Amino acid sequence: MTADNKDKFKTLADWIRESKRVVVFTGAGISTESGIPDFRSPGGIWDRFDPSELSYPNFVSNQGSRKKYWEFYRENWKESAGAEPNRAHLAIAALERNGRITAVITQNIDGLHQTAGNDPEIVFELHGTMWEVRCLSCNSLYPWKEIYNLLEKGEYVHNCGHCGGLLKPATVSFGQSLPVKTLENAQRFSTNCDLFLCIGSSLVVYPAAQLPELAKNSGAKLVIINRESTPLDNISDLVIQGEAGDVMSGVVEILGLALIN
Ligand code: APR
Repeated sequence: MTADNKDKFKTLADWIRESKRVVVFTGAGISTESGIPDFRSPGGIWDRFDPSELSYPNFVSNQGSRKKYWEFYRENWKESAGAEPNRAHLAIAALERNGRITAVITQNIDGLHQTAGNDPEIVFELHGTMWEVRCLSCNSLYPWKEIYNLLEKGEYVHNCGHCGGLLKPATVSFGQSLPVKTLENAQRFSTNCDLFLCIGSSLVVYPAAQLPELAKNSGAKLVIINRESTPLDNISDLVIQGEAGDVMSGVVEILGLALIN
């Protein structure tokens, strides 16, 4: 670790110590150390699938797109089903146990923050969850494993048994609106925090990427932890380039907190 990063870990630990209301905002980069690929790194998900083919309007309008979409989900579930929280997730759960965190706002659909120990009541999944399949018409819930097994057998995903509507994983696709209540809560916590930590996001997708700016404009210190630079580095108070697991486990170690798996 460079001396520069060492100083930055200490600065971040001091800022967390001094803060009363820390909000953590995460992207796919926090889960890569759990074996789940992110979207925009080389070899990431968008190198293997075309996001425009997986949009919501395509999904609801034609069967061919739905077939492509379910192939994408079969892959997604296969890659994520056995994933465990990594050091970065465990560090965020340790910060919550230490009474530091008011909210975890995530773009991720893998549920690893909750598995790591963060209270689901304070985890706001802006882009939904991959662990539920719902009917788009009557909102009936279907176990994801049932659908996954159908796909594994090469069978087609049937329509809703109650109303005949289309079934879809409870995630937000391009062209689909974010869950209103979740976004409102995320905005409320972002405007009421004194420290906003962005971890593992390219910060290029809106409205999610608006939240760090909202926090900054509301008076919070903005910290960006990422493997590479982001478009919001220039407005942030501290940028730490590195692996999320290294940075977050290093910072909670300085704070004297234990990672509990
Ligand atoms: N540590 C730190 N940063 C990492 C790590 C890691 N171990 N692994 C990857 N990164 C960085 C990458 O360099 C990249 O900048 O995390 C970022 C991940 O960016 P994206 O792949 O764009 O993921 P994300 O920002 O979450 O994307 C937002 O876009 O396609 C949609 O719905 C999808 O929720 C997703 C949204």
